[in-house]
Amino acid sequence: MRRLVGVALLLAALAPAAVHAADEADPPKRVQWSFDGLFGTFDLPAARRGLQVYLDSCGTCHSLRFVAYRNLLEIGLTGDEAKAIAASHEVRDGPDETGAYFMRPAGLADRFVPPFANEQAARFANGGAYPPDLSLMYKARLRGADYVYSLLTGYGDPSPDVEFAPGMNYNRYFPGRQIAMPQPLLDGMVQYADGTPATVDQMARDVLQFLAWAAEPYLPVRHRMGLGVLVYLLLLTGLLYAVKRAVWRDQH
Ligand code: HEC
Repeated sequence: MRRLVGVALLLAALAPAAVHAADEADPPKRVQWSFDGLFGTFDLPAARRGLQVYLDSCGTCHSLRFVAYRNLLEIGLTGDEAKAIAASHEVRDGPDETGAYFMRPAGLADRFVPPFANEQAARFANGGAYPPDLSLMYKARLRGADYVYSLLTGYGDPSPDVEFAPGMNYNRYFPGRQIAMPQPLLDGMVQYADGTPATVDQMARDVLQFLAWAAEPYLPVRHRMGLGVLVYLLLLTGLLYAVKRAVWRDQH
């Protein structure tokens, strides 16, 4: 009997959570990423397309502080291409010999120039919400690549009974299903140099290749090393086993 009461109490305690779950987010879609798994590596043409998506869309609101323009050579840009991207942004430099600070075009050694001078300016331009830095964003969330991909492709019309705070957008993958970020990708928004059709889905996948690389540029190296260590340990085990057999052959 006491047990029954206990169960009833437990159910009563869980009930509000179950109701609440109705406006919780959907679980992210599952995507096969080239960078997942032991042999995972980046799709560099896709990462280059993703850079274009970042520059045309995300980069107007989100910073990417840990990446320098010269790092773009690692995904296959030429020095001139990377320089041109850098030079289209300005950085503050100085002091010069008169002690003054001045603006100059960014160069290869500079980090990606943030779109806003500070957090206040970023919030002011985004209705009070803060677009977080994207350098480590996808690693900061559980199943990050799946989550960010789902978020970018998860906009749509809510059921009519949903009440909206002003300036919010419906997104079924964001906790609470309302997000301050307006839909950042629209079909055909960028013109890919390699002729790939720029659908929302394609751009979302491409920008995730770029962001995954930005967050962990040495992932393929780490994977190769891990694999090397595994092979080494296997060979060593075999060798030790053979030695053991040879040493103990006549002992019993
Ligand atoms: C017009 C400005 C704007 C653009 C363009 C934009 N974002 Fe955002 N983004 C925001 C704001 C504002 C937030 C904070 C949303 C909130 O807290 O409700 C945000 C939040 C996010 C988040 C965090 C979600 C979370 O779980 O906290 C990610 C990831 C993100 N954006 C990725 C992107 C990517 C990738 C692009 C480019 C394809 C992009 N954004 C383009 C304004 C923008």
